[in-house]
Amino acid sequence: MTPLFSKRSNLYFRGVLILGPLLLIGGGGLVYAIWWSPYLTRQEQVIEQPVPFSHQHHVTVLGIDCRYCHQSVEVSSSAGIPATETCMTCHSQVWTEAPVLEPVRKSLRTGEPIRWKRVHDLPEFTYFNHSIHVAKGVRCVQCHGPVGEMPMTWQSEPLYMKWCLECHRHPEGFTGPTDEVFSLEPKTGSVFAESTGERSGDVPDDYPFNLPLTDCSKCHR
Ligand code: HEC
Ligand code: HEC
Ligand code: HEC
Ligand code: HEC
Ligand code: HEC
Repeated sequence: MTPLFSKRSNLYFRGVLILGPLLLIGGGGLVYAIWWSPYLTRQEQVIEQPVPFSHQHHVTVLGIDCRYCHQSVEVSSSAGIPATETCMTCHSQVWTEAPVLEPVRKSLRTGEPIRWKRVHDLPEFTYFNHSIHVAKGVRCVQCHGPVGEMPMTWQSEPLYMKWCLECHRHPEGFTGPTDEVFSLEPKTGSVFAESTGERSGDVPDDYPFNLPLTDCSKCHR
């Protein structure tokens, strides 16, 4: 009787046994690497805009506060994008002839808003809220990176659920005094430095966050 499996198929079988898991791990690693690559997360991709607006120039060189243009960031879920009139408070006086600003002047003439392209865009099924993060002392730069150094705006963080949760599990390590929320410096230190370790069971009475922040319903309503 011929054996069901030849010696050679035995060898193949062993090969598959050894290589299979390796391939799986390798393949998994590759998928993971691609999943977190800036190509898929949209990180650090400069988005072309109808007007080449520079945060570097307006925020760092001119020293304009974020709230001058993103007026609702402290009080509403959305930060808001400035209206044409906000630009024109200055640009009816400075750079009034500049060709790059023609879309802004046209928008004022016609009353049609400038169509800024979104840089950050969470999926529809998620809920995000700026005001609560501002109120608890999370800096803009914590989530938006070095905005003051951006000639054109890009997304600095992956914005995946895992990324949100890393902070929601230990918010005390990522928050600071509320009067420093608009600072352009990356955060240093923590208001609750002493409780950055394991928190379960020994949450101090004056712990300033509404736990648990990892409940699905917080972000999926
Ligand atoms: C003079 C007005 C002005 C000021 C001041 C300003 N911004 Fe902006 N910001 C804009 C405009 C216009 C856009 C839309 C165009 C773009 O994305 O670059 C924008 C876009 C953004 C975006 C991307 C929005 C998106 O589409 O996802 C972020 C994040 C942002 N600003 C953060 C900040 C922060 C943080 C500060 C303060 C450090 C600030 N901005 C100050 C005008 C301003
Ligand atoms: C905890 C992280 C986080 C912090 C802190 C944060 N943002 Fe955002 N920001 C986001 C996310 C996420 C989005 C995308 C929201 C969406 O797609 O619905 C966003 C979107 C924006 C936008 C686009 C318009 C909008 O509201 O969707 C602007 C402008 C902006 N942020 C400015 C700011 C400014 C100014 C600050 C500081 C006061 C700030 N952000 C602090 C995470 C953050
Ligand atoms: C508080 C005053 C102020 C506001 C508000 C303002 N700008 Fe400016 N902007 C300036 C000044 C000043 C310059 C630089 C002029 C120079 O370099 O001589 C400038 C330069 C520019 C330039 C030229 C390119 C550059 O950055 O060097 C563009 C484009 C521009 N602004 C777009 C905008 C848009 C769009 C808005 C509204 C979202 C806006 N600005 C709001 C003051 C302002
Ligand atoms: C750097 C830290 C940090 C990051 C990153 C962060 N959050 Fe938060 N988030 C906080 C803090 C702090 C609070 C306030 C907790 C409290 O209520 O005491 C909060 C609260 C919230 C709330 C309100 C929860 C409630 O009690 O109703 C929502 C919704 C939320 N975050 C969504 C998100 C989403 C979505 C992301 C990712 C796109 C995100 N957050 C990323 C720190 C962060
Ligand atoms: C702090 C905010 C936050 C909390 C809490 C949260 N999510 Fe998410 N979730 C997000 C964001 C932002 C996205 C979209 C980005 C992404 O796909 O990673 C998302 C995406 C998802 C997706 C789409 C698939 C995926 O991973 O891309 C599923 C499913 C999901 N969440 C389920 C859950 C469940 C179940 C829980 C509770 C155990 C939960 N989420 C808690 C913010 C949150």
